[in-house]
Amino acid sequence: ASLLDFHQDATKVGLDGDGAKVASHIRFVDDGLLIVEDGKIAYAGAFEEELINGDTVHDFRGKIICPGFIDTHIHYPQMEMICAYGEQLLDWLKTYTFPTERKYSDKTYAREMAMICIRELFKNGTTTAAVFCTVHPESVDAFFEVAETHNMLVIAGKVLMDRNAPEYLQDTPERAYDESKALIEKWHGRGRCLYAITPRFAPTSTAAQLEAAGRLRREFPDVFVHTHLAENKAEVEWVQELFPEARSYFDVYKRFGLTGRRCIFAHCIHLDDTDMHEFSDSRSVAAFCPTSNLFLGSGLLPLQRMREMHVLLTLGTDVGAGTSFSMFQTFHDAYKVSQLQGAKLSVEEGLYMATLGAAHALGLDDRIGNLDVGKDADFVMLDPTATELQQLRWATPSPLSDRLFTLFMLGDHHNIFRTYVHGAEVYARSS
Ligand code: GUN
Ligand code: FE
Repeated sequence: ASLLDFHQDATKVGLDGDGAKVASHIRFVDDGLLIVEDGKIAYAGAFEEELINGDTVHDFRGKIICPGFIDTHIHYPQMEMICAYGEQLLDWLKTYTFPTERKYSDKTYAREMAMICIRELFKNGTTTAAVFCTVHPESVDAFFEVAETHNMLVIAGKVLMDRNAPEYLQDTPERAYDESKALIEKWHGRGRCLYAITPRFAPTSTAAQLEAAGRLRREFPDVFVHTHLAENKAEVEWVQELFPEARSYFDVYKRFGLTGRRCIFAHCIHLDDTDMHEFSDSRSVAAFCPTSNLFLGSGLLPLQRMREMHVLLTLGTDVGAGTSFSMFQTFHDAYKVSQLQGAKLSVEEGLYMATLGAAHALGLDDRIGNLDVGKDADFVMLDPTATELQQLRWATPSPLSDRLFTLFMLGDHHNIFRTYVHGAEVYARSS
């Protein structure tokens, strides 16, 4: 097989103004060999006969091995309401989302859905995800339990909501604190499970609850924070009414100690320059969710401004507001969002955001993100020619970069041939 990833040095430049620097750190080995030992990468490089000491060799000529994709924002309880018709964010939440999330108080149901979600992630080549559960601790246990059976590196947490949501989905500042703390102690660092303190978004938490979330973060500084930020204009205005003392939506989170390293913010569309500077300086992580932003009509992420300010940018599917589990389809919409604003988004930048860039943004690039020796063996085998059209395009002489671009634009789960987590095959395409 061929090997495709980024040199670790790519993290030193990240996404710059035109993406050229990160693109120069891409690695492609046409006739490659990957050796896995004890769930870790033992060799990745040119195929050499003498490296094979009687080990089993699998021949995957024509396939491309790349690091497993990292989806930095997804809601597993929203799969069953994907593509819900007609509403924008706030009405969409009321009409479709909240009634659906109610079902996740049932642990058995939550487990079934967690299994489907993880299967779907693997089928799309995604090996790590940052996942919203629901307000119910059962929904968190269910998700981690299933992830653990696959040895999958996941980030997940209990949603915190104590206002502006139906009674049946609310907790309180005290319950938010106590239940999150118990879940952190149970799951954070167990196997490959990692915990995220997960206030849904500023409008559904009181100041007291955000304060409790901030207190938790101070007590557990290596735990993640995962929330939504500046997705929709009506939402941004509402936050300004609810927190008149804050300078901006981002400032609300900042005041409660919920910004900085390992804090993941989905969307980040409507930020002013001050916010963007503070966001970047704090090393907070932005999850760009283009399929969701287009589906809910939320707006266009100012990609070029964010690149120029060296914001840590990653890609999220945001299923069920997002319309696909595929990181190819997510890139596809990211590219179009970029084009609508007169900017370019290269496939190298897309691959970087979906792999090493996300690992680096999350502080996990010592474990995942590329095929360096010693990293966890989370990788995908891509089939660039799953359809007749793709075969035609792939066979047409053009630079590798152009052919990869077409693969990412046209790609979906059909182009995922195998997925491996911690060295074990977790998905194989049926034909
Ligand atoms: N903002 C608050 N909750 C949600 C959610 O469930 N999905 C999206 N896309 N945005 C949100
Ligand atoms: Fe979301």
